Amino acid sequence: MNTDSLTEYVAALTDLHRGLDRKGPGESDFSRNILSNLSTLPLKPRIADLGCGSGASALLLAQHYQSTVMAVDSSSVFIDELKARAKQLGLEHLIIPIHGDMAKLDRSVGSVDLLWSEGAAYNLGFEQALKIWRSLLAKSGIAVISEMSWFTDDVPEPASAYWQNAYPMMGTEAENIDRANRSGFSVLSTHRLPSQAWWVNYYEPLRERMQQIEITPSIQSVIRETEEEMRVFEKFSDSYGYTFYVLQTT
Ligand SMILES: C[S@@+](CC[C@H](N)C(=O)[O-])C[C@H]1O[C@@H](n2cnc3c(N)ncnc32)[C@H](O)[C@@H]1O
Repeated sequence: MNTDSLTEYVAALTDLHRGLDRKGPGESDFSRNILSNLSTLPLKPRIADLGCGSGASALLLAQHYQSTVMAVDSSSVFIDELKARAKQLGLEHLIIPIHGDMAKLDRSVGSVDLLWSEGAAYNLGFEQALKIWRSLLAKSGIAVISEMSWFTDDVPEPASAYWQNAYPMMGTEAENIDRANRSGFSVLSTHRLPSQAWWVNYYEPLRERMQQIEITPSIQSVIRETEEEMRVFEKFSDSYGYTFYVLQTT
């Protein structure tokens, strides 16, 4: 894709997700369950949510810890949505919204106790993201990062063909654990996001939005692509999905 087409594609994708609470699959109770098992953090951890979208996780983290969250996203549209939601929830004082590139954060080494990133690391590549983010974390800091993962070594051909094109770097959970270990983390636990959370919290609201949005050629092409993604997930969600990797710096 050349730069102009990429810009047009990102604009259409952003437009399609405008107003949605989640810009990717996720579930609040599932996230809270992960948080309730993180025992080694300070009472008021310094938190970063990278690729935060409109703040599904950033707001939950701020509420859970009553601590400040640096929330970074490259989309100004999503950052504006986050600001509005934070204000509505009375959490403005805990959210530091940053419109910027999560690969080029100008933050001091060791300044984060809990790094959260949901559905976003793939934009950099899982291993590359871990290597870049590792130095942000304090000693024994925790990272919770979701990554599209194969749940089997025996991937059905149609799923493999689709994802070979959409995300060729997608690995099995074992490969991702190796990638984490190579990047300076030990893996404390892994958690698969249930497929129901994809449908209820992401695909169904997205489908409704598809019916409301004004159709342009670039929106049409993003819709076609998303519908194909949903068809593949409908058939093969036993073979892949988002795994949340709970990591600690070594
Ligand atoms: C699938 S969405 C997930 C958003 C959010 N975490 C959620 O679950 O609702 C991925 C997000 O990553 C953001 N993103 C992609 N590349 C980025 C980059 N280099 N720096 C910061 N944000 C980025 C996108 O704008 C988008 O909001």
